[in-house]
Amino acid sequence: MKVAVLGAAGGIGQALSLLLKTQLPAGSDLALYDVAPVVPGVAVDLSHIPTAVTVKGYGADDLSAALTGADIVIIPAGMPRKPGMDRADLFNVNAGIIKTLAEGIVANCPKALVGVITNPVNGTVPIVAEVFKKAGTYEANRVFGVTTLDVIRSEAFIAELKGLNVSDVKVPVIGGHSGTTILPLLSQVEGVTFSDDEVASLTPRIQNAGTEVVNAKAGGGSATLSMGAAAARFTLSLVKGLKGESVVDYAYVSVENGDAAYFAHPVRLGKNGVEEILPYGDLSAFEQQAKEDMLATLNKDIQEGIDFING
Ligand code: LMR
Repeated sequence: MKVAVLGAAGGIGQALSLLLKTQLPAGSDLALYDVAPVVPGVAVDLSHIPTAVTVKGYGADDLSAALTGADIVIIPAGMPRKPGMDRADLFNVNAGIIKTLAEGIVANCPKALVGVITNPVNGTVPIVAEVFKKAGTYEANRVFGVTTLDVIRSEAFIAELKGLNVSDVKVPVIGGHSGTTILPLLSQVEGVTFSDDEVASLTPRIQNAGTEVVNAKAGGGSATLSMGAAAARFTLSLVKGLKGESVVDYAYVSVENGDAAYFAHPVRLGKNGVEEILPYGDLSAFEQQAKEDMLATLNKDIQEGIDFING
């Protein structure tokens, strides 16, 4: 199993790479790519951890070598937001970065599973898909927006609110990955009930949790450690799927005849990435309204990504 991390020297990339170095199956290769000159050092640093995962660093000119043979590519590369910015404000700076990296994937490992973290995820995932389509190598089941951070935040916040063991809390989160497009399905959390007031306060807290971190970091960036943990969890789900296990996880994927062209759903993962897009079940009246209210924003975000490639 070869996993390439693009943007491996950044805050998310380093946290993610550390977790993958310690959690990937024995015999895996971890390829760390970054334009930042520190990346060989990050690789040497990680290589001193005694696990049976080899680590190699690749600098700005070595994208092809980093990607060749990759089974999974995870992309945290790009600029984080600062207080006062929405994720959508990052589009202009991050769209070009994602396009370049997607072109590298097309050229070197077109069959890899690709997990996109770079914001705005609602628009960067369509960029990757459109680059693949242009090259004639698109397979919708291989491209994912990583929304796991919304899931783990929901688990943490609910466990804290209700005094539960966090490992028992499972929360479906659908939609996209920004503001109101993030929709936690609190009505479906097994064994837990919420008052209307709790739903009305917890839902926006989950939707704005990224901003909570951005503001707390006060200009020093956005979530890196929790995003690293979330991305590692999702990458390990992809690995299990590739190894033939049937795994269900949540991700922002291309959906035919769905609520929008891309929408976070529960998906069954397997040897080809998404084996099946599963229904998200019945929504409460609050969730149904929230879903309808988000669609204009989500569709606009998606279209911006499509237009970036197709003009
Ligand atoms: C997050 O959810 O924390 C990330 O998408 C980063 C951000 O800008 O909020």
